Amino acid sequence: MTQNPAGFPNPMPPAPRAGGAGTMASRPVSRIGFGAMQLERLHADRAAALVLLRRARELGVDHVDTAQFYGDGVVNGFLRDAFRGDDGVVVVTKVGADPDPGGALPLRPAQRPEQLRASVEANLRSLGLEQIPVVNLRRLDAGPGLRASGDQVVDLDDQLALLTSLRDAGTIGAIGLSGVGLDGLRRALPAGIACVQNAYSLVSRGDEDMLRLCLDEKIAWVPFFPLGGSFPGLPKVTDEPAVIAAARSHGATPAQIGLAWLLHHAPHVLLIPGTADPDHLEANVAAGTIALDDTTLVALDAVRSRALDLALG
Ligand SMILES: NC(=O)c1ccc[n+]([C@@H]2O[C@H](COP(=O)([O-])OP(=O)(O)OC[C@H]3O[C@@H](n4cnc5c(N)ncnc54)[C@H](OP(=O)(O)O)[C@@H]3O)[C@@H](O)[C@H]2O)c1
Repeated sequence: MTQNPAGFPNPMPPAPRAGGAGTMASRPVSRIGFGAMQLERLHADRAAALVLLRRARELGVDHVDTAQFYGDGVVNGFLRDAFRGDDGVVVVTKVGADPDPGGALPLRPAQRPEQLRASVEANLRSLGLEQIPVVNLRRLDAGPGLRASGDQVVDLDDQLALLTSLRDAGTIGAIGLSGVGLDGLRRALPAGIACVQNAYSLVSRGDEDMLRLCLDEKIAWVPFFPLGGSFPGLPKVTDEPAVIAAARSHGATPAQIGLAWLLHHAPHVLLIPGTADPDHLEANVAAGTIALDDTTLVALDAVRSRALDLALG
């Protein structure tokens, strides 16, 4: 056990930076983080979920993406119990949808400002935090997934006004956007945006302009579905012949190549691959050590990008 300058034992030795160093909301984080959505599958095996999260922290993961609607607070509860306040994990949650137990997804749009506020409060309770480091506003402008209709079509400025007031009050540390279009991002820039989380991967690169705008504005680009997601019907990075060939030549798995490509693609990319499998967790973190040569990058860059037109609800 190491000692801090005051002489007290530190709870954990300093972890390595998984995938190198990145920045989230002005805080240094490992470029390889963790997406907690897949942990819903471990709802009946809390012990396995906690072991997996603690192993992620040991491996250097210090940026975790979550939502209240992942298991109706169950996944947030896993995070609360796995991490200690002094573990230095930057938790990023999202608001804009509410749990809908029994529903097809199961979540439903919750875009109105009072719903956003209630969702922040629910996240604070289930995460056991006094301040949520980053809250992503999950807009419904860009697919795949839910679409807004009726009173769920809400002006972005009204939502940002609410989130800005929560940030001023210290309830949240920073604001991010998810499921947003280029115009929405441009409009939101004056509010101060820490990160953008849209669906993006080697096989779905429709948001390249937004990725570049984020780079210019020093906003972290945090793709969801970095491997193509777990939903059937979406293109999977691991099915691509160029990815499979690169995996063979690098002694890696296709999933690792897909993640390594994202890390090589731009310096402001932070990864949140999702898994409930401890071996996949180890492999995903190890992807941060894979160096892709120029020939491989050219072959991977040539993979055809496809639209994500799956309606999830
Ligand atoms: N902002 C949003 O609206 C939004 C939407 C969706 C997701 N997200 C966030 O983004 C995160 C990532 O997205 P995602 O989990 O849906 O999709 P993903 O990371 O692209 O893929 C997850 C799928 O890949 C499998 N997988 C993971 N690592 C693997 C490996 N090394 N080898 C083989 N298979 C592997 C997982 O299965 P195993 O569990 O068996 O490994 C799971 O089926 C989520 O966890 C969530 O936190 C955000």
